[in-house]
Amino acid sequence: MLPETVSCPTLRVRAEKRSSVAENLLLTNIGQLVTMRGLVPRRGRSLADPGLVRDAAVLVEDGRVAAVGARRKIERMREALRARKMDLGGRVMLPGLVDSHTHLVFAASRVEEYEMRIAGASYEEIARAGGGIRASVRKLRAMPEPALERLALGRLAQFAAHGTTTVEAKSGYGLDLASELKILRVQRSLARKQPLEIISTFLGAHVVPPEYANRQREYVELLTRRMIPAAARDALAEFCDVFCDRGAFSVEEARRILTAGRACGLYPRLHAEQLARTGAARLAVELRAASADHLDQVTRGDIELLAKSSVVCTLLPGASLHLGVPFAPGRALVDAGAIIALATDFNPGTSPTLSLPMAMSLACDGMRLRPAEAIAAATVNAAYSLRRHDRIGTIEVGKQADLAAFDVADYREIPYYFGVHLAWLTIKRGKILYAREPKQI
Ligand code: NIG
Ligand code: FE
Repeated sequence: MLPETVSCPTLRVRAEKRSSVAENLLLTNIGQLVTMRGLVPRRGRSLADPGLVRDAAVLVEDGRVAAVGARRKIERMREALRARKMDLGGRVMLPGLVDSHTHLVFAASRVEEYEMRIAGASYEEIARAGGGIRASVRKLRAMPEPALERLALGRLAQFAAHGTTTVEAKSGYGLDLASELKILRVQRSLARKQPLEIISTFLGAHVVPPEYANRQREYVELLTRRMIPAAARDALAEFCDVFCDRGAFSVEEARRILTAGRACGLYPRLHAEQLARTGAARLAVELRAASADHLDQVTRGDIELLAKSSVVCTLLPGASLHLGVPFAPGRALVDAGAIIALATDFNPGTSPTLSLPMAMSLACDGMRLRPAEAIAAATVNAAYSLRRHDRIGTIEVGKQADLAAFDVADYREIPYYFGVHLAWLTIKRGKILYAREPKQI
């Protein structure tokens, strides 16, 4: 099933009711409630504390969490008696998952490159031959805004169907002013017309577009003088990202681009140390970036530096799996005391998955994270990297009622059953986006 061809019937049904005011909900008979309450961000030993409440209930009022705790106590509250009751049947509930690194808006899959790579071609060879990101750029430039929006809308339904309630989305398949703004406008339009929260990042520095081949310096000028100010205008983006790697942008160029971004109010993030070790992780620390992502090639020295910083180390095991390369040293980063997040990197070239539960399985099986650590990385710490931790990422009184229930009895079974769709109920700001068994609601 290709993400661009599927749509989610449940979400469509729910979308019709979205204009109605969120009703008060009593979610009860929750076998295990993973609240993730406590210190933010999580690092070191606190990363493995799920803030578990057994036999729990959550009361939702006006889209916010009004009460959380033992079922017997919550059910006796006066407001709970008036709320619509949903019985979770002993299932597990987590904070709505936060996907802090995606490339949501693209025109088509690159399944032909997938076959080429299986046959032995490398990602970088394909890119050098005009495929890769540049192939996605050609197709995106040719596709009108409404068509791009329709494709992304179907993908968002799939995100919700896997328990995700917040999605960071990067531009980066346009690479000229008009096409980059087209992507950012699609993202803004989607943020307004569908329930998932979308946080936009400008990634005009993904690669140098073909018309600037051998004129990389001029493209960097274009980015810093025209494209970044335009993306920042009208708050079309909140973050600025650079693919700082072999075949993309150097550390020096990334420093210039991210500094220009910051001057326009865009907070820095970085694709760092994915294909080659370039020093990008050190740049992330130097610039106090919100996040350094990938980190497959980090050295022991990089790990120590990152661990002492407040840069979130965003692990993207889907990309390593799909490219057939070793996973980033997630365990070593955690043990050193780094703040880690976990994301899908959903994109057509290196990580065509939008399932955060799948990313959790890969992080546990391939990086030796504990299930509670993987969940913290995909909720509270991901929210921190997006500067949203005051509102999302944990289940606590006063926070947004962003919730994800799974059809398991023990939260550790979420990564354990890898590749199995277990999402059962997804709620955003108190509204039901996805229900595995619609008759329940
Ligand atoms: O995060 N590394 C750069 N960007 C993407 C890949 C994008 C693509 O190949 O289309 C990533 O892996
Ligand atoms: Fe990426």
